Amino acid sequence: MRVAVFDTRSYDEAYLPAAAATGGHDLVFFEPRLTTATAVLARGFVGVCSFVNDRLDEECLRALAAGGTRFIVLRSAGYNHVDVAAAQRLGLRVARVPEYSPHAVAEHTFALLLALVRRLPRAVARVRDANFALDGLVGFDLHDKCIGIIGTGRIGRIVANIATGFGMKVVVNDVREDPSSGLQYVGMQELLAVADVVTLHCPLTPATHHLIDERALAHMKAGAVLINTGRGALIDSRALVRALKAERLFGAALDVYEEEEGVFFKDLSGQVLKDDVLARLLTFPNVVITAHQAFLTREALTAIAETTMANLTAFDQGAPPFANEPAAAR
Ligand code: NAI
Repeated sequence: MRVAVFDTRSYDEAYLPAAAATGGHDLVFFEPRLTTATAVLARGFVGVCSFVNDRLDEECLRALAAGGTRFIVLRSAGYNHVDVAAAQRLGLRVARVPEYSPHAVAEHTFALLLALVRRLPRAVARVRDANFALDGLVGFDLHDKCIGIIGTGRIGRIVANIATGFGMKVVVNDVREDPSSGLQYVGMQELLAVADVVTLHCPLTPATHHLIDERALAHMKAGAVLINTGRGALIDSRALVRALKAERLFGAALDVYEEEEGVFFKDLSGQVLKDDVLARLLTFPNVVITAHQAFLTREALTAIAETTMANLTAFDQGAPPFANEPAAAR
């Protein structure tokens, strides 16, 4: 199948072709994000391959369908950037990669947590400048602290295991409780009140949009840490800025940001940053930000490439609806 691959970076071009060759797919790489404005590039391509900051709203999907596209494969687990109901109405089939390496995201969660609580970005920058003073670098032990995990799916459970290895007490919150998990489920208010570290691993849905808002931040334990490797809009970023300014939190570590679209995955170092909230977040000494890289390991990229191309092959062969196709209502 001829496939237009959008929002392409060097690592996509390194990992996708080998998996495409197995299925006999012919990939054409496009650097721009897929939006209504760029959908014209996919004209004549039966397959389209998309990433998290593309915007597949109804208008974009209409343009794709009009151009002859029938299949959309996402190089991601999350599909909040796709109007799945509109795709179904237009007869477009969509498939995602429900699981690639949940370990990649869970381990990055701890990379961020440790970087924040041991103040590593500041420490490394100081030492590079031959400043070997330790003042201002006091952190805290994770051992014996309580971690509150919101969302105990594939990633959240691995975070719980890693936390246990650090000797942390684990409490969790999920809309679907699994009594066989051995996890200690608590209500959201209780989790926020007792956790020294709050970490987000639920999907972004209308119900979870700004899950961590002004009220939730006010309920968090004073001096707690907030980690987000889920989706940016799980947190009301403006409310987070206010909480940080009020010095209510030890700090925050974020791999995702609600307005990351059009900013993350790009080198903007020579430009003026237009997003005042992101610019403010970057000024805090107790905020660590990475640009949506939790998934970026060799293992995850290999699995993403293989599943994405297998999804295309299934579509190509007229497979009946299968588990990797997101349901509109979910
Ligand atoms: P999963 O589907 O295995 O687990 C999600 C869990 O969240 C489920 O147990 C679900 O019941 C729970 N949940 C849903 N709504 C909730 C709510 N309102 N409150 C509490 N829990 C709720 O998903 P998985 O694989 O663990 O991934 C979680 C999220 O991580 C994805 O939806 C995605 O947005 C994000 N992600 C981020 C990546 C990154 O590179 N930063 C990479 C991969 C995923």
